[in-house]
Amino acid sequence: MIRRIVVTVLISVFWCGQLFAEDETAAGIQEYRDLLSDGNPAELWVLSGEELWFTSVGPKGTSLETCDLGKGPGVVRGAYVELPRYFPDVKKVMDLEQRLIHCRMAIQGLSYSDVTSYPFTKTGQETSEIEMLVAFIASESRGMHMNIPLEHAEEQKMFDLGEQIFYFRAGSHDFGCITCHSGDNRRIRLQELPNFRNQDQARKTYGSWPAYRVSAGEVRTMQHRLYDCFRQQRFPEAIYGHDMITALIMFLAKSADGGVYNAPAMKR
Ligand code: HEC
Repeated sequence: MIRRIVVTVLISVFWCGQLFAEDETAAGIQEYRDLLSDGNPAELWVLSGEELWFTSVGPKGTSLETCDLGKGPGVVRGAYVELPRYFPDVKKVMDLEQRLIHCRMAIQGLSYSDVTSYPFTKTGQETSEIEMLVAFIASESRGMHMNIPLEHAEEQKMFDLGEQIFYFRAGSHDFGCITCHSGDNRRIRLQELPNFRNQDQARKTYGSWPAYRVSAGEVRTMQHRLYDCFRQQRFPEAIYGHDMITALIMFLAKSADGGVYNAPAMKR
């Protein structure tokens, strides 16, 4: 009897210790984040992106000032929290990066390969222009609420497709987004895995991208985040600016609807 009590007590102490260690780790990670958030290098990307937006470049020697991100030509304020959206001029739903590719080609006369030659900066490369532009445009929605009403039938279609992709499992490990992002308090090594079926977590997570990645020393966009998660999922490499990614972004953006947008943020 006494032995059973002692064993029970020992097991309880062990589990409490585990729980305490979990709490301590989470607190440590939070402390690290708080320290980092003081002075986010993403501001440099925002400034360069702003300059680039107003600079005349390309064969047509024009700036992006007439690019319509959904709120009228040249309006950047509040554009990000309403994207992805349907654009009547091209008759399709686009996320910010697809729209920028379109504007740079149509307005500035650049070629598709000029604009997408390296959307994600690698070590030693000059910072990708798309990453700078995205940082600037996103920063112009800071403090606003995500607003994805899905009024147009094409928007609803993209959302439905994105939802299907989120739940779709395949590949060598039978993984889907859902495998890693549908439960609370999950973590891979030190990285917390947000649960997109929890509205609060979806809002906080979506509202923090694009983000300056300390590990990369670069600002990364939502396209990059998903590119990297497709890799984690052991899926074939995602094509930059593909409609499938836009569909998934639509699903994530809608899951964050109503949340306060607060990016570019800073992440590990
Ligand atoms: C095998 C597990 C795994 C799968 C499957 C996976 N992810 Fe992730 N995801 C991660 C990890 C790990 C991180 C954190 C990465 C980091 O910090 O570098 C992450 C981070 C994210 C983030 C940013 C989280 C934050 O806190 O800012 C988003 C958004 C995201 N994933 C979306 C997706 C979507 C959408 C899919 C499906 C295409 C997906 N993930 C599939 C493991 C996964």
